[in-house]
Amino acid sequence: MILARHLSAVRYLALAALIAACNGDDGGDESGQEPDFPADYQTKYTEVRNCRGSGDHDLNNIRILADPAALAPYQGRAEPFPAGAIVLKEEYDFGDLDCSGAIKQWTVMRRLADGTSPNTLDWAWQRVDAQRRVFDQDATRCISCHKGCGVPEDGYEWTCAVP
Ligand code: HEC
Repeated sequence: MILARHLSAVRYLALAALIAACNGDDGGDESGQEPDFPADYQTKYTEVRNCRGSGDHDLNNIRILADPAALAPYQGRAEPFPAGAIVLKEEYDFGDLDCSGAIKQWTVMRRLADGTSPNTLDWAWQRVDAQRRVFDQDATRCISCHKGCGVPEDGYEWTCAVP
């Protein structure tokens, strides 16, 4: 009995230590991740694809924006995306045909240095809700679908749309 209690206390402590290690110290949401884009991104990013429906992103209406580093590579499709470049998709309600209402969620790609993360195609993938909580990080769903966006499809470096 005493032994059993002792064991479960040890297990509890080990679990608590594990949870603390996973959470890190940034005290954010449950995933421990910060969104890859600043709250005021709209003043800094440029629209590269205007409001339209997206059959692939849950039929939401969407708008695509690029940060200054991603702008030329996304539009020109010639130079590579530098590490840190951000491509962001605003997702609006199915019925919001001009993307004038509230944003439902964002999906975001942040470029990593070449060859550092082959499993995620050298991008970090996030889905962020309207309260800026990160609730998907590098989801397989994102990566496996974008993997299908290659040449001669519409893809460029695992982005999927011709701007
Ligand atoms: C079923 C396939 C599919 C899935 C799953 C998917 N995407 Fe996409 N994604 C696309 C396609 C196709 C486009 C381009 C056309 C459009 O906007 O719908 C796109 C566009 C994007 C863009 C804009 C840049 C571009 O041109 O590719 C971002 C950012 C993005 N997706 C991130 C994500 C993230 C993050 C996830 C997972 C949470 C995800 N996607 C899941 C197919 C998919």
